[in-house]
Amino acid sequence: MKVSEAIKYRRSVRVFDDKNIDSEKVKNCLINATLAANSSNLQLWEFVHVEDKKILKELSKACFNQNAAKTAKQLVVIVVRKDLWSERAKWNIKEIKDQSNKNDITIKRLNQATVYYNKIIPTLYFDLFGLLGFFKSLIFQAIGLFRPTMRQVTSTDTRIVAHKSAALAAQNFMISMAGIGYDTCPMEGSDTLLVKKILKLNRKAEISMVIGCGLRTEKGIYGEQLRVPFNQVYTYI
Ligand SMILES: Cc1cc2nc3c(=O)[nH]c(=O)nc-3n(C[C@H](O)[C@H](O)[C@H](O)COP(=O)(O)O)c2cc1C
Repeated sequence: MKVSEAIKYRRSVRVFDDKNIDSEKVKNCLINATLAANSSNLQLWEFVHVEDKKILKELSKACFNQNAAKTAKQLVVIVVRKDLWSERAKWNIKEIKDQSNKNDITIKRLNQATVYYNKIIPTLYFDLFGLLGFFKSLIFQAIGLFRPTMRQVTSTDTRIVAHKSAALAAQNFMISMAGIGYDTCPMEGSDTLLVKKILKLNRKAEISMVIGCGLRTEKGIYGEQLRVPFNQVYTYI
């Protein structure tokens, strides 16, 4: 399917067919998920792909036995790992260094990246139990009186940033699934603590979404795709 066709095909499917789907194909769609745009290329995400029947049942319960979870043939859990920011910043520097072929352009890029990942990223992400964020915010608001500046610098702000990126990955995944005629349903309705426990996730992991996967049934699509009129949400300047 073309991208626009896949976007139009994608619907949240709440009742999946009994037929199985190919987990290798689902995995390939998750590889596409990792290609999503993401803040500072920190890739603060993990993807847990579940086909094990026992775990599916437990996860379905954690998703309040919603139909989209209960009838899903596979589930994909989009996990946010904001805690990995320092590790991933170092990884970026190393990768850019390895890519650099020592000409002027790549050396300049490497120097910029080193400053960015060694100074700017820690300024934004480092916090002490959320306390530093308040002071960082005050400083940046003061700077903002004189020039444009970053304003989203608290721990909550960077959590939102990490969740935004994870949501873009989720959308890449769902569109890729639609592109091969597979269906999905994103769910935030879950007991996230229970989901983490079932999957034995890191204590600092956060759940972005649980995505039901399978093939659509007619009754699995609850009516027309409803959207407010485009002119209510579109501004052209
Ligand atoms: C972040 C997020 C959370 C959602 N959570 C649920 C959910 O818990 N259960 C559910 O049935 N649908 C859930 N949905 C699906 C939405 O209800 C659905 O996308 C919306 O009604 C538009 O329908 P469409 O996806 O078919 O276009 C969620 C969607 C998103 C993006």
